[in-house]
Amino acid sequence: MGTFYVTTPIYYVNDAPHIGHAYTTVTADALARWHRLVGDEVFFLTGTDEHGLNVQRRAEANGLSPQEQADRTSERFKDAWSLLNIAYDDFIRTTEPRHHRAVQALLQQVHDSGDIEMSTYEGLYCVSCEAYYGEDELEDGNCPVHKRPAELFKEDNYFFALSRYQQRLLDWYEAHPHAITPESKRNEALGLIRQGLQDLSITRTSLRWGVPVPWDRAHVFYVWYDALVNYLTAIGYGEDDERFNRFWPAVHHLIGKDILRFHCVYWPAMLLAAGLEPPQRIHVHGYLLVGGEKMSKTRLNAIGPADLVADVGVDGFRYHFLRDTPFGPDGDFSYEGLVARYNADLANNLGNLLSRVSTLVGSKCAGIGPAPRPHSPLEAVATEVYEASAQAWDRVAPSEALEATWRLIRETNAHLEAEEPWKAEPGPEVDAVLGDALEALRIVAVLATPAMPAACAEVWRRIGLSGSPSERRLPDAARWGGYPGGLDVQKGKPLFPRIHVD
Ligand code: MSP
Repeated sequence: MGTFYVTTPIYYVNDAPHIGHAYTTVTADALARWHRLVGDEVFFLTGTDEHGLNVQRRAEANGLSPQEQADRTSERFKDAWSLLNIAYDDFIRTTEPRHHRAVQALLQQVHDSGDIEMSTYEGLYCVSCEAYYGEDELEDGNCPVHKRPAELFKEDNYFFALSRYQQRLLDWYEAHPHAITPESKRNEALGLIRQGLQDLSITRTSLRWGVPVPWDRAHVFYVWYDALVNYLTAIGYGEDDERFNRFWPAVHHLIGKDILRFHCVYWPAMLLAAGLEPPQRIHVHGYLLVGGEKMSKTRLNAIGPADLVADVGVDGFRYHFLRDTPFGPDGDFSYEGLVARYNADLANNLGNLLSRVSTLVGSKCAGIGPAPRPHSPLEAVATEVYEASAQAWDRVAPSEALEATWRLIRETNAHLEAEEPWKAEPGPEVDAVLGDALEALRIVAVLATPAMPAACAEVWRRIGLSGSPSERRLPDAARWGGYPGGLDVQKGKPLFPRIHVD
């Protein structure tokens, strides 16, 4: 047992939540839920990134003040997360006073150490990325991510002396070989550092919508240096040392590959400059593509979570993204894929097992679920499935964890097919087979609860257990023999009605 601190990127409030944001957030939520099951002290942080030129411009376009724009969009993120059953421990907004205090304290520290100096900067800037680009990085003058022209900006700014940190970063990554996953992304980060690091412009005078620089009020911090600090604010940086030290640096940052440079190069350097340890783990995932392209509002291919939840339900949505988009590479979203996975794994495998077993308990055991056998043929499968699932969750591989868990469902269905209890007379043989199946369902309900909390609670209830699987603790809850027998088993409507697509 330990602590598990997991973060999502904080989302810009210029855009409504789409399934790309949901993908990262559902993954973080599932990991947090898994770690709660194993008894870790969990802190799961998400939130919104509310400053910067992008937000200011979007607010102007909408006829709103930046604060109003931030308030409205931040609510939309909270609504989306509540729809998707996201159990975060804290939702941070960068406009909160606690965050302003943390940003100012951290950067004052770096300034005091002599690593922030004034200088003039001129460069090509993509407002959507809130980042400067070198001319060679642009595609015909367009930002490579947003495909829109970069704008020429010139400013007298404060610079962070990133160039001084090249060797220290390389040494740190050498000493921490598992800090970035997957390996290919670690190599990408090391490549960026080895190319040579230039000092970074970290303040702006061209806008007011930001955190004021404490030593020079004509400037606000550049949105990224304000944003990254959210990970420290929420655990009490500068205000609650005991809490801060409990969670830092043992953090797991989940990020998309578009923000690798900020998290894997700039962020650790800023932390080192402030006398803090870099983040222990950064897990980088690919884009969710729609029709082969990254989803975004500018490309008009954004899909909102509610559109899909209407068809496959919250747990169908969560399961699909966790199971079908392996964490790491890009993943192509398709509606056909969503429905196919739902029908195969949820309507057929899990849904059928539950309805079959509850119907048979009704007809063969007067509705009272029998206990499992102490040495069932399924016991070894359950043990292997638990081991494989646990290892996969630890590796931040939800897709593999769920694949492993579904093996128990498939083998239990196969076991029923082989034993054919529907053909047999009621008696000890039938009780044994059905008791084993109920026990398998109990274990599946625990192991799949991080992915599908509501559906697993319903399986739990239908097989007669009280409380909820999320209150159980692993590994005990996965050990064979936990279903006591003698409980009322309820038949009910299909848990996952089959979806027919025309
Ligand atoms: N505000 C910054 C992050 C600051 S973190 C200190 C930002 N925000 S964002 O809203 O534009 O994107 C945040 C994250 O959303 C991405 O890194 C990624 O994790 C996720 N995604 C946004 N679009 C996505 C896809 N199409 N596919 C997968 N993830 C996507 O960057």
